[in-house]
Amino acid sequence: MRIAVCLTDNKPEPWVEGLQAALPEAEVFAWSPGAPQADHAVVWAPPQQLIDEQPQLKGMFNIGAGVDAIMKLRLPPGLQVVRLDDAGMSVQMAEYVCHALIRHFREFDVYEAEARQGRWVYRKPLERADFPVGIMGLGVLGERVARAVQQFEFPVLGWSRTRKEIDGVRCFAGEARLGDFLVNTRVLVNLLPLTDATRGILNKTTLGALKRGGYLIHIARGGHLVEEDLIPLIDSGHLAGATLDVFQQEPLPGEHAFWRHPKITVTPHGSARTLRRESIAQIAGKIRALQRGEAITGVVEPERGY
Ligand code: NAP
Ligand code: GLV
Repeated sequence: MRIAVCLTDNKPEPWVEGLQAALPEAEVFAWSPGAPQADHAVVWAPPQQLIDEQPQLKGMFNIGAGVDAIMKLRLPPGLQVVRLDDAGMSVQMAEYVCHALIRHFREFDVYEAEARQGRWVYRKPLERADFPVGIMGLGVLGERVARAVQQFEFPVLGWSRTRKEIDGVRCFAGEARLGDFLVNTRVLVNLLPLTDATRGILNKTTLGALKRGGYLIHIARGGHLVEEDLIPLIDSGHLAGATLDVFQQEPLPGEHAFWRHPKITVTPHGSARTLRRESIAQIAGKIRALQRGEAITGVVEPERGY
């Protein structure tokens, strides 16, 4: 069995070494144009050339949860695209969202600014019930985030394509219920995959439908947000601010207004990092299961795009 590793913007060597140790019977190599034919590929944002040159690939294992960079390529019908299933990411997302939510709700950003001026100033406690948290996407990551936010006793809502039942979470499903979900949400968390159905879903209409004083925690893909719609909604006072981890262009250009807006916090697409050890163990386990003819989880459905 041969496994090709092709990781745009990441060094392949530690992955080749780790996969080789986990699958000693395989031949694992870093892909380059003209490389020998492989049975499986381990990829991040692969070029079309890899797919065109490797027509016999059975599995393409993405080293992330989001497969949008793969699904925009021309893929042969028999190729299974497999995303990472958690692999240590959901706890990171839970940390990130709880941090951003609590920093905003408890006004720690305001206290930090006051403290820098040497000022001892109390602020009136806010009502938790006035900060319903709505999570777009109740998949592997969204459900874990919903459970983490519940621990802090915020009202929690969720929106997904198909209907979910999650204890204590007010669940909405499908485009027809998006409006109801948004008008009942104050802090909006985006954990959707980027597909034709979700591109541009955060825009002046949807963000404008949030409760007044709304707050955006945007951690899925840059393509979800119509960026030029955000600052006018904040400056008009409809939104209180945003924490943004993903952008239309990454790295976020130095001159972008998001960097300097006082009510926007920017992080560099790191809300949940791929953990190499966990990811290699998961991918190797799935390759072995496929060899035994067993079904695996995390297989992308091409018609859904995630
Ligand atoms: P997942 O398990 O596939 O969950 C996706 C959720 O979105 C599901 O609940 C799905 O509904 C829902 N959904 C998809 N299309 C929808 C639509 N058109 N309308 C309403 N709901 C829709 O994915 P995941 O593992 O939780 O990851 C989510 C995304 O997070 C990834 O795709 C990636 O873009 C992003 N991510 C970002 C980072 C980062 O560091 N910033 C790290 C990891 C992942 P159903 O349940 O009905 O299918
Ligand atoms: C990171 O953005 C991922 O999709 O895992």
